Amino acid sequence: MQIDINNLSFAYGHKLVLDKLSLTLNPGSFLVIRGKNGTGKSTLIKCLLGINLVKNGMIFFDHNDVNNFKGWTTVGYVSQVIDEFNYEFPLTVNELLSITKLRKVKENRKLKLLDQMGILEILNENIGSLSGGQLQRVFIVKSILNHPSLLILDEPTASIDKNNVEYFYETVNQLHSEGTTIILITHDEYLDCYNYSHVLQMNPDLSYAFRKRTATEEKEAE
Ligand SMILES: Nc1ncnc2c1ncn2[C@@H]1O[C@H](COP(=O)(O)OP(=O)(O)O)[C@@H](O)[C@H]1O
Ligand SMILES: [Mg+2]
Repeated sequence: MQIDINNLSFAYGHKLVLDKLSLTLNPGSFLVIRGKNGTGKSTLIKCLLGINLVKNGMIFFDHNDVNNFKGWTTVGYVSQVIDEFNYEFPLTVNELLSITKLRKVKENRKLKLLDQMGILEILNENIGSLSGGQLQRVFIVKSILNHPSLLILDEPTASIDKNNVEYFYETVNQLHSEGTTIILITHDEYLDCYNYSHVLQMNPDLSYAFRKRTATEEKEAE
């Protein structure tokens, strides 16, 4: 999916958080967003997802304004804070993964992804009984079940231990190699594990640097 961001500004009340941010991502790009806490990374993602409402003309998916975009089933998303979810109703992991607008969830793919993320054994457990890290992984599987055209990940591995993180970035790199456009907020510690193509640096003074991955960075990752 192609993404165009055009002079995007966003404020919570009087507090300006995003100030005239512009960038273009061609289909199949893999963008990493970096920046200190509070620089607006999650806010930007919520603008992309239509959670934070923006004016017409600021965000386009495949040349469609986000405000008229109809292809949400092709977008996967894992939010930063899963703990905000409160599932007290009796729903199993398997049932949660079946609630989808998709015509058909491929059984094999579902089981393989659950296995890769180390949570196959909780398939029939109630989601209310899971740890934060397990629930996070369930949402990761849900976000990538359908081979999304666009996958947006906001510090998705914050509450997951190292072993499972490894499977996670392998899966993300696999999707990228299949043509999925990826936007990822992550900590530097894992940066070299991803085959990212672009970097957006967000600064506390609301300035931004958007660039391609440099040859030096690719060398260091080897
Ligand atoms: N829902 C909200 N209402 C008001 N202010 C918010 C809200 N969400 C975030 N902010 C503020 O916007 C700024 C950017 O936050 P955020 O986008 O979460 O940054 P990051 O993800 O880079 O840490 C912070 O100052 C934060 O306090
Ligand atoms: Mg954030």
